[in-house]
Amino acid sequence: MSSNITAMAGVKSLKDIDVTGKRVLIRVDFNVPMDTHFNISDDSRIRAALPTINYCIDHNACSITLVSHFGNPKNGYDERFSLRHIQKRLERLLQKRVEFIEDFEASKSEIASCSLERVFLVENIRFHEGEKKNDPLLARKLAEVCDVYVNDAFGTSHRKHASTYGITEFVETKVAGFLMMKEIEAFSKALEKPIRPMALVVGGSKISSKITLLTSVMEKVDKLIIGGAMSNTFLQALGHEMQGSLVEEEYLQTAKEVLEEAKRHKVKVYLPVDVVITDSIDHPVDVKVVPVQDILEGFKAVDIGPATLKLFSEAIELSNTIIWNGPMGIYEINQFSKGTYKLASAIADCYAYSIVGGGDTADAVEKAGEKENFSFISTGGGASLELLEGKILPGFEKLDRNDVKGS
Ligand code: ADP
Ligand code: 3PG
Ligand code: MG
Repeated sequence: MSSNITAMAGVKSLKDIDVTGKRVLIRVDFNVPMDTHFNISDDSRIRAALPTINYCIDHNACSITLVSHFGNPKNGYDERFSLRHIQKRLERLLQKRVEFIEDFEASKSEIASCSLERVFLVENIRFHEGEKKNDPLLARKLAEVCDVYVNDAFGTSHRKHASTYGITEFVETKVAGFLMMKEIEAFSKALEKPIRPMALVVGGSKISSKITLLTSVMEKVDKLIIGGAMSNTFLQALGHEMQGSLVEEEYLQTAKEVLEEAKRHKVKVYLPVDVVITDSIDHPVDVKVVPVQDILEGFKAVDIGPATLKLFSEAIELSNTIIWNGPMGIYEINQFSKGTYKLASAIADCYAYSIVGGGDTADAVEKAGEKENFSFISTGGGASLELLEGKILPGFEKLDRNDVKGS
């Protein structure tokens, strides 16, 4: 694993090249948490990209084109997933005008021919079918508007998509942004010579995209602590009746395999023993704490209970390295946020090297007022779990390297 982290740290970064007069395309991760009124609830991911964007502005790049995804739109344009909701905040943070490119295809020649210092924000790249399919046609079109490609989307660097991976085939100069470098440095500290025991805490709702990773982390972790909607699938796999809780039925077998793998590697697994249940998420009338064996018909598990919090806190206390991704419940709703916030405080109180990752988890830590008490706040959720697996993340794989002549 360590050699792969070293390999990622060996990519060229923005400071190794000259962007003066160049058209720069920066892949950023502006997939920020947002409420139903389109208020950005945590703009950390936008702020995290500022050093790279400002560096290009300060070093007289001729144009800067920002490309990001936002959420997971299924069938083309959908207002809920428009990056327009982010444009104003970005302008405010950059203190610079940002031109919104609604239709990338139609505006391609304008972006490509730019000779003035301009900043463009392209509409959600996932509105294009080709993005997630890593379609070379889309990758080539993106490459055509720039001279330099900068990947600074650490949170998306585990995806092999057209704007994070495919584009590198068609651009001569491709480097990492400052955020990518900072993230890899922080993770190499935690993963290269980890001070054990190492605890991995997982939760959240992206079960299908994260659960399979868990089978491959057993050599690196000593304790696996599972909460949030992720734990619902495990509890159901163990025979508990989860009623209306969020469970991904197709992954029950994977959950069993994760538990088997943990047993084989003597990794201790901690699952909720009690949960907060509700009759409704949006209009809760009946909310109670029950043992996981007693979830009532028509109710859903939406947070870990107090006994679980105590169990998880004690397991964490004895760890020297802690990596956390995924909230313990629907923390966006006050009534269901206690488990996540209290766990944030429990981790923050430890003397361990602690990394928290993921857009929502980082948001929750900030809301819990514990941001300053973690060793590192990563912008990557799934990406940090894949790092833990020991893989080279696709977002780093094809970038120019400092150790290869001529690149
Ligand atoms: P991150 O963004 O940190 O990687 P995820 O996106 O995987 O985390 O998950 C965050 C989401 O998980 C939050 O929106 C939260 O409301 C949701 N969540 C957590 N626990 C539950 C649960 N028990 N039921 C439904 N949703 C949950
Ligand atoms: C995230 O929020 O974890 C990243 O932006 C990646 O999003 P994705 O899981 O939809 O690819
Ligand atoms: Mg999320």
